[in-house]
Parts: sequence; structure tokens; C-alpha cells
Amino acid sequence: MKDNYKYVSDVYDQLMSKVDYKFWAKYLLKLSSLYIKKKSKVLELAAGNCRLANHLSSYFKDYITTDISLSMLKKTMSKSIKRICCDMTSIPFNTKFDLVICAFDSINYLTNKSLIKKFAFEVRNILSDDGIFMFDTALERNSFKHQKEAVRSGRQNDIIFNRQSIYLHSSRIHKNIFEIQYPDGSKVREVHRQKIYPLDFYFRMLEDTGLYVVECFNAFTFRDCKPNDLRAQFVVKRKI
Ligand SMILES: C[S@@+](CC[C@H](N)C(=O)[O-])C[C@H]1O[C@@H](n2cnc3c(N)ncnc32)[C@H](O)[C@@H]1O
Repeated sequence: MKDNYKYVSDVYDQLMSKVDYKFWAKYLLKLSSLYIKKKSKVLELAAGNCRLANHLSSYFKDYITTDISLSMLKKTMSKSIKRICCDMTSIPFNTKFDLVICAFDSINYLTNKSLIKKFAFEVRNILSDDGIFMFDTALERNSFKHQKEAVRSGRQNDIIFNRQSIYLHSSRIHKNIFEIQYPDGSKVREVHRQKIYPLDFYFRMLEDTGLYVVECFNAFTFRDCKPNDLRAQFVVKRKI
């Protein structure tokens, strides 16, 4: 399995220092409460170092986090959170979940349409009949915004990082190139590629995979998403 956040996991908290996970978790909790009960079984895909799970897990009966990067999962602050390393396009569970979460543009890491379809089929397989799948996705305006602040640097525990953000409009690929320097002087480079799909792609893709869109909000709000918003928040159910 590809530990695609092997080095960035060392600086992730600093990289995300401006992200208000508590607020994000409250939003997801409010949204999920419209559809499911508190005593639900939850699976979080691409949970990273479990920053959201730290705020969300206590509200549910059972909460399992997963990520393809073992390094990310190992960095969680709350070691009591259940963590399983797996690829979200090949989900290793045969039980059903009432709530499946995939947050913070993680779906954009699936950079081709067949992979994203495989992912949606896998989610459908583990979603209970009344269950919901909540995911958000970055839209093109978000990439243009990041272009304006294309280079960012910082430090976490004497580890220095530099991030360059490049959006290739023709292929809709957003690249984040990280250069990380450790206290012993060693340097590594890690490149993250994300695909920025048009908003209407998700509606078609979900329909084709036995799912349907219940809501598609402008992220962090309860107003319908428009194609030129920064990020969309989907609530999805399975067709029965
Ligand atoms: C931007 S981070 C978001 C992490 C976390 N959801 C958060 O809110 O901080 C994207 C995450 O997606 C994970 N990821 C990328 N491709 C994946 C895949 N195919 N299966 C599972 N996780 C994946 C990465 O390892 C990384 O932890």
C-alpha cells in the first residue's frame, strides 16, 4: 500500500494550523443528525491523522478511521481511536455502516474516473439501507485561490517544509509539491496529485454506481452548491 503521506505526516498539523477541525466536525455532526441517529456505526475513509475523528468519535456508538497512509494514522493524538490502514478504493469490511465520511478533499486524490467509480461502488457495498455517505470535494475555484498563495513554508518540531501549489487547468490536476528538511539535514520531496472534477461529474458518477445525491451544499453551509463555489459537501444515499 502506498504511504503517500509518509513525510507530510511529519508536518501535517502545522500545515493545517489554520483549519478549524472543531468547527468542521460540528458542521458534519449537524448535517448527519438530519439523517441518522446518535447510536450509529461510522466509518471514516482517508481520515489522515484523525483530526476530525478526535472531535466526532465520542458522538457515535462505533467509529472506525481508515487511511492509506500508515504514517498519518500513526500520528493521531488519541491512540484509543480505532485505526485501519487501507485503500478506500478497496474497503476491507463486510459489515454495514450507517454513516461513511470522507472529508477534506480526500476524494480528489482519486485521479481517474474508473478509480472514483470503484470507490463509489465500494462505499455502496458497506452503506446500510438508511445510511448516508458524506464527502466533500474541492472545486476549481479552490485551486485558483491556492494559485494566488502558491508557495508556503513553515516548520514543525525543527522540521522545515516548503509547499508549492500548481494547478494545471488543461488536465484539471492540482499538484502540491513538498520539500521537507529534517534536523539532521536530510531532505525529501513528496508530490501529491489531486483531480479537480466538475461539480456535475459527481451527480452522474453517483447515479451510475447505485447511489444518489440527497444534498449538495456549499461546504460549511446549508445552501445549495454552485459550480463556482470553493468546495462542495455531498450527502449521498444508496438506491434500494
Ligand atoms: C488532505 S488529507 C485529509 C485527511 C483528513 N481527512 C483530514 O481532514 O485531515 C488527504 C488524505 O487522503 C488519504 N488518501 C489519499 N488517497 C487515499 C486512498 N486511495 N485511500 C485511502 N486514503 C487515501 C491521504 O493519505 C491523506 O491522509
